[in-house]
Amino acid sequence: MTEDNLNGRLRIAVVIGSVRRPRLADPLAAWLERELSAVDWVDLDMIDLAAVSLPMHEMQPGGAAVSPIAGRLAGADGFVLLTPEYNHSFPAPLKNAIDWHVTEWAYKPVAFVGYGGSGGIRAIEQLRTVFPELRATTVRETVLLPMAWEHLDADGRFVPPPGTVRALRATMNELRTWARALRSLRLADQAGRA
Ligand SMILES: Cc1cc2nc3c(=O)[nH]c(=O)nc-3n(C[C@H](O)[C@H](O)[C@H](O)COP(=O)(O)O)c2cc1C
Repeated sequence: MTEDNLNGRLRIAVVIGSVRRPRLADPLAAWLERELSAVDWVDLDMIDLAAVSLPMHEMQPGGAAVSPIAGRLAGADGFVLLTPEYNHSFPAPLKNAIDWHVTEWAYKPVAFVGYGGSGGIRAIEQLRTVFPELRATTVRETVLLPMAWEHLDADGRFVPPPGTVRALRATMNELRTWARALRSLRLADQAGRA
C-alpha cells in the first residue's frame, strides 16, 4: 500500500457465503466474477468459503495466524459479500469466517450482493449489525437478487434481470468511494504510528 496508488486500482475481495453443494451461489458468483473482472479499477480476489478450512472449533478472535485466508482479507481494500438468506439471516459459515478475523476487516468497506426468495435483504440487514464491531463500514447501495433461480439460462448461467447491473454499478461506485477514503485513513494511521 503506497501513496502512489491512492487513486489507482483497488483490491476487492468477493466472499462467497454459501458452502452448500449444489448451491445457487455458483452461477451468481460466476456472474459477479465476469462483471467485476471488467471493472477497470478492481483487482479481484474471489474467496470461496467452500474451498477454505476454517474449523469452527478452532476459531479464536484474531486467530489469523492459522487462517488460510487472513492474508487475502488483509490485502483487500474492500469486500463484496455474496450472501444467501437462510431463515431470515445469513449463513453460519459466513459468520464463522467473519469471526475468525479481526484486523483484516478494520477500516474497510463491506458491500453486499444478496439472494433468496426476498433477495437476501434480511441477511444483509443482519450483516450490517455485525461489521461495526470489527470497525468496518457497510455500503448503503446493495444488489438484491430475488428468486435468482428463475433467471438461469439453459446452461445454468445467471442472466440478470433489468436493473441488476445498474444496482451493481452503484454499489461498486460507493464501495470505491469508501475504499479510497479508508485506504487514506489507514495510511495516515500507519504513518502516525511509525
Ligand atoms: C436452511 C434454508 C433456509 C432458508 N431460508 C430462507 C429465508 O428465510 N428467506 C429466503 O428468502 N430464502 C430462504 N431460503 C432460500 C435460499 O435463500 C435459497 O435456496 C438460496 O438459493 C440458497 O443459496 P445457496 O444455494 O447458494 O446456498 C432458505 C434456504 C435454506 C437452505
